[in-house]
Amino acid sequence: MSQNDPCILVIFGASGDLTSRKLIPAMYEMHTMGQLHPSTVILGVSRTQKSDDQWREELRPWVQQHAKGFDEAKWGDFARRIHYFAGDAVKQECYPPLESRLADLAQQKGTRGNLLFFMSVAESLYEPIVEQIDAAGLVVEGKRWCSIDPNAKSWQRIIVEKPFGHDAVSAASLNRTLGRAFEEESIYRIDHYLGKELVQSLLVLRFANSIFEPVWNWQYIDHVQITAAETVSVGQRTAFYDQTGAIRDMIQSHLLQIMAFVAMDPPSSWSPAMINAEKRKIVESIQVPSAADAAKCVALGQYGAGKIGAVEEPAYHQLPGVAAGTGTETFAALRFTFDNWRWGGTPFYVRTGKRMAAKRTEVVIQFKEPPANLFRSLTKEPVQADRMIIQIAPGESFSLRFNSKVPGAGFSLRPVEMVMDYRQQFGNDSVEAYGPLLVDCMRGDQTLYKTREETEDAWRAVMPFLGAASAPMRAGINANYEPGSWGPESADELLARDGRAWHNG
Ligand code: BG6
Repeated sequence: MSQNDPCILVIFGASGDLTSRKLIPAMYEMHTMGQLHPSTVILGVSRTQKSDDQWREELRPWVQQHAKGFDEAKWGDFARRIHYFAGDAVKQECYPPLESRLADLAQQKGTRGNLLFFMSVAESLYEPIVEQIDAAGLVVEGKRWCSIDPNAKSWQRIIVEKPFGHDAVSAASLNRTLGRAFEEESIYRIDHYLGKELVQSLLVLRFANSIFEPVWNWQYIDHVQITAAETVSVGQRTAFYDQTGAIRDMIQSHLLQIMAFVAMDPPSSWSPAMINAEKRKIVESIQVPSAADAAKCVALGQYGAGKIGAVEEPAYHQLPGVAAGTGTETFAALRFTFDNWRWGGTPFYVRTGKRMAAKRTEVVIQFKEPPANLFRSLTKEPVQADRMIIQIAPGESFSLRFNSKVPGAGFSLRPVEMVMDYRQQFGNDSVEAYGPLLVDCMRGDQTLYKTREETEDAWRAVMPFLGAASAPMRAGINANYEPGSWGPESADELLARDGRAWHNG
């Protein structure tokens, strides 16, 4: 692995949930693993006035709760990397003082003028902030020598969070704005699911072994299920969520990325260009249903009031900040098919939801039944089809279910399971997905980031289920599933119509 460069990680949206819950704990983990350059520092930018020390103290409990292996001494070391700047990043007047703070930090810490901007703000602020960064002349790579440190040949990169736009048109507009300020190789469109250990291992499973690829197609696989179920509610994020919903929040981004890794053809090398070319091909081959057929490929839901364990919560539609009679889905199940030689006739069912029965992110590869039952005359039990489960969270494992003879006299068959558990095998828990992705960016590696084209193409696949055309799909969804369940009945019906059922564990 090449050494990453020193830089100032400038987080716009320092007071937000993403920064405290994911980014700072992820950076702490990278610090403790020795993955950050010793000179790298973090500068949080937000409107509220506070000192460096106040922000450090606010962040401490988040790191204690969310990072692996909290240790006072290590925290003390890491906290020295953390700095804060109060300012409104959409306003021009924020930038002269921000620039001088950056210049001071660069000089004190020796960050060579390298800047990594992270957009951890509401999506509507991305373009205004990028325009201000550009107008302030902070992006000098490929344009002129760095004003912050004139002796260094610096880089400036930007990480853009999802949602990347709210449809193909707004995604294209955001791409254009980014392109006016930054070179394409400096734009990092992040999807933290690509930083998850098992999502990357999926490619290793498929392409570093020769036994899976020959059966990885419509001839052997009956269907695929991808589930990202959460027990948590929408929480305090109603303003964002009511404008977004489960399809935009989870399916258009995270689950389409997992689907692409499961379904794509082997790339010719492990390089951003080759991997992204294959991902692009598979996303382009999704058969987008006509308006008339779309309703047959979707089930939408909204959680009702009730308890999961001791936690009692109101129904989604009753939350403060949610529009009366809202049609925003907190659960979505979609049926995708591909128009290509590998997957013709094999559906991929994708579902996600809040307040569901369990926190579980998994891929189920359901193989076809054997073409003939050799054992029909010996045993009454039906021969079950083989199944592989790729468990992404919680816990990380691959398991393969296949049939075995029960030992002893007589003749009976039983499905058995072979499990490869990552923790048992490698002896440690994986880290927060953002950490390795941010370090990749500091090293200039775009392999696990999305391309410009991908962010626009991915909208095409979900547009029939969004906007005005989807109003009939949303009729009557208020409180149509119980908290602690596996979603609305319509989700079961979606699979039952095809003679299939969800894997609910
Ligand atoms: C985020 C979504 O991108 O992913 C959240 O905005 C969701 O709504 C989260 O809770 C899930 O991430 P993870 O890593 O916990 O599965």
